[in-house]
Amino acid sequence: MSSPAALITGGTSGIGRATAELLHSRGYRVMVTGVDHAADAGLPEEVLVVRADARSLPDIDHAVDRARRHLGSLDLLFLNAGVSRPGPIESTDEDAFDALFDINVKGSFFTLRKALPLLGEGASVVFTVGAGEGVGAATTAAKGALLPLMRSLALELAPRGIRVNAVSPGLIDTPVYGRMGVTREMLDTWGKEVPLGRAGTPADIAEAVAYLASDAAGYITGDNLVVSGGMGIHARA
Ligand SMILES: NC(=O)c1ccc[n+]([C@@H]2O[C@H](COP(=O)([O-])OP(=O)(O)OC[C@H]3O[C@@H](n4cnc5c(N)ncnc54)[C@H](OP(=O)(O)O)[C@@H]3O)[C@@H](O)[C@H]2O)c1
Repeated sequence: MSSPAALITGGTSGIGRATAELLHSRGYRVMVTGVDHAADAGLPEEVLVVRADARSLPDIDHAVDRARRHLGSLDLLFLNAGVSRPGPIESTDEDAFDALFDINVKGSFFTLRKALPLLGEGASVVFTVGAGEGVGAATTAAKGALLPLMRSLALELAPRGIRVNAVSPGLIDTPVYGRMGVTREMLDTWGKEVPLGRAGTPADIAEAVAYLASDAAGYITGDNLVVSGGMGIHARA
């Protein structure tokens, strides 16, 4: 039996990169996509890195074609490429709004559509959503759109034996915060407000994705696994 295969969009940094490393260490053959860090992802050399912008259907075609030639069929499609644009409505212009929906929603939808012929019985699809709502209205809307999309696809693809789930990270310490101007001190302070007392690590999410992809999760579909250290739980008087 050949080793399992995974395609991870947005696998060049943060959560996607940690998932690529974890799955590679567990014997998966892995391909990742990315844009800015496609040339310097720093992944093991067996992991194939392909530059593909999730906003571009020709790029998605190219990436899926590379996956077909490099991996054959897929056991896991991790639809993780995504962006957030925090801020009030006044600071969200049309470009930011379009990028949120084009990368998070349209990119995920068409990557799955194109990759479907590579997914057979027993394969697993995982969307990255997000546990928080304080990240800007347009970001919340774009990420929120993924949940009904995921559930509809879980229903549609269940007869083919393909499971479709989501993972929703809370506050996870990835390079995205540095790029948004969030300092280490700010992240540590926010982490202390999480019930478990720290920000999550990319590996925390990678473990959840590996679980959803595994046979151990063979009866789970249409579900959203929140990995947030308890963020969002409020004490009741
Ligand atoms: N970190 C958190 O606290 C948190 C919380 C909730 C949800 N999330 C979600 O988790 C996912 C991963 O985020 P992260 O924190 O790991 O951030 P990250 O380190 O910035 O990683 C984002 C990944 O998405 C890729 N990407 C961005 N724009 C893309 C595009 N147009 N086409 C293809 N790939 C693109 C990036 O590739 P390049 O760098 O190569 O361009 C990178 O590999 C995202 O969907 C994010 O919204 C994160």
